[in-house]
Amino acid sequence: MLRVGYPAILDPELLRVMPQGVELIPLADGLDYPVEIDVWIPDPYSTRALRVWPHLRGVRLVLALMAGTEWIPGAVGPHVTICNARGAHNICTAEWTLSAILAMLKYLPLYLDIQRSGDWRRRSEASGLYQQLTHDGRTYHPPVKLEELTGKTVMLVGHGSIGKDIERMLEPFRVKMIRVARSARTQPLVHPVAELDNFIPLADVIVLILPLTADSKGLIAAKQFALMRQGALLVNAARGGIVQTDALVEALNSGKIRAALDVTDPEPLPIDHPLWHCPNLLITPHIGGSSPEFDARSLKVAADELRRYIAGEPLQNVVQAAT
Ligand SMILES: NC(=O)c1ccc[n+]([C@@H]2O[C@H](COP(=O)([O-])OP(=O)(O)OC[C@H]3O[C@@H](n4cnc5c(N)ncnc54)[C@H](OP(=O)(O)O)[C@@H]3O)[C@@H](O)[C@H]2O)c1
Repeated sequence: MLRVGYPAILDPELLRVMPQGVELIPLADGLDYPVEIDVWIPDPYSTRALRVWPHLRGVRLVLALMAGTEWIPGAVGPHVTICNARGAHNICTAEWTLSAILAMLKYLPLYLDIQRSGDWRRRSEASGLYQQLTHDGRTYHPPVKLEELTGKTVMLVGHGSIGKDIERMLEPFRVKMIRVARSARTQPLVHPVAELDNFIPLADVIVLILPLTADSKGLIAAKQFALMRQGALLVNAARGGIVQTDALVEALNSGKIRAALDVTDPEPLPIDHPLWHCPNLLITPHIGGSSPEFDARSLKVAADELRRYIAGEPLQNVVQAAT
């Protein structure tokens, strides 16, 4: 019988989706003896999973409960197949992205600050912020208090599982969409990442939703910030390392761009890190996938993959095939 190890912390009710005919073995965080399993469902928190891994024997397949799996190949080596939970994060992370875009265009961080200060008169600060961000010196009646998303140009860097859901959620806003991914395709039109720099100057909003790999590390650096429109909004829902942090701090402090980040490099962001103090920046501490619905959704993805594995069918979410 196939032995499947899973984090003991998971609610046993959720494991009912697992196929019949497997032996489910709970793996406690403090595990300190060898355990023989065939399939490993690691704890979504890599630090906890890495404490368990040295005690596991016989693992041939890893079914991750997350979309980002960058820490796993280095830990388990090349002889193990690794699948991610592609699709499980879509709704939550796409909704975060939309919220972050709207929060920044509606100046919600400023208005929260004003609410906390209890000073209504500070609402006039919004027009100054708009002018400072966009360099638009025209006079408006009434003065600008927020911006609109409708009609803006949004660039998605990454057009996979989550990127497509972000595009679907953006549809009511009738944005102009620019899509960039690893490889080019048509229907819909997706540009290759080699052409990224040509499209950066056209975008009001740039959303990063691609994996962190050797190719994507530092993809957004000083050159890319220089190409961005004055006041462009960078939204990173992917991984911190895709953006060069020093260049990001510089671009924010100089007033060139604004940003919303669910992820940073380093992570966790140290308490005294300069990013905490940058202007026009919204940071959330890597929360984009963590809704109450996530556990059930990611275990369903893992269970479906396990069913295919048992049936000898091709796996759908392979991020590393065993050598
Ligand atoms: N903030 C959070 O909590 C959170 C939650 C979930 C996921 N994430 C992050 O989001 C990432 C994307 O997830 P997903 O499920 O949408 O992944 P996915 O379905 O595998 O799609 C990834 C997309 O990125 C593109 N891509 C890969 N390498 C690239 C490169 N070097 N340059 C440009 N584009 C590249 C791919 O291009 P092709 O289509 O041409 O292959 C694909 O369109 C994950 O890897 C994870 O790091 C973050």
